[in-house]
Amino acid sequence: MDTSEMEAHVRLHHPGGRALRAALQHKATNEVGTEQVPGRSTAMSEWVDVGPVEEIGPGKRATLRVEGVPVVVFNAGGELFALEDECSHESYPLSDGEIEGEVVTCAKHGAQFSLRTGEDLAPPAYESVATYPVRVRAGQVEVGRQPKAD
Ligand code: FES
Repeated sequence: MDTSEMEAHVRLHHPGGRALRAALQHKATNEVGTEQVPGRSTAMSEWVDVGPVEEIGPGKRATLRVEGVPVVVFNAGGELFALEDECSHESYPLSDGEIEGEVVTCAKHGAQFSLRTGEDLAPPAYESVATYPVRVRAGQVEVGRQPKAD
């Protein structure tokens, strides 16, 4: 699959969820991609750089913080998905989990989530996790600064 124009078409099921609240609370915080160069615009991009696409091959993952929220980017069979890197059960990092198809299984207690929608698919989690838009531009993976909303 050509990922150069890929963008996850996923929805955040809980627009009032933790990630959104955290993003709003950290709105004034600019933790990633904030290097300011004298004489250049300091306008904040809507996208946060993750790294070269070739470093996140199929089955791999990358983690970062976006507006204070831990985010993981998974490559599942050549398609990129970005979601909050905190299990909604007990906040264990989903980046430690296993992916199979479009499902990630939390390594702590086995809850499962859809990579595409963030929906909780198996207990002990009963809340979805936030998802983020992801794209590739000029060979770099980028994640949207704001989570997807309904
Ligand atoms: S912390 Fe993920 S299932 Fe318990």
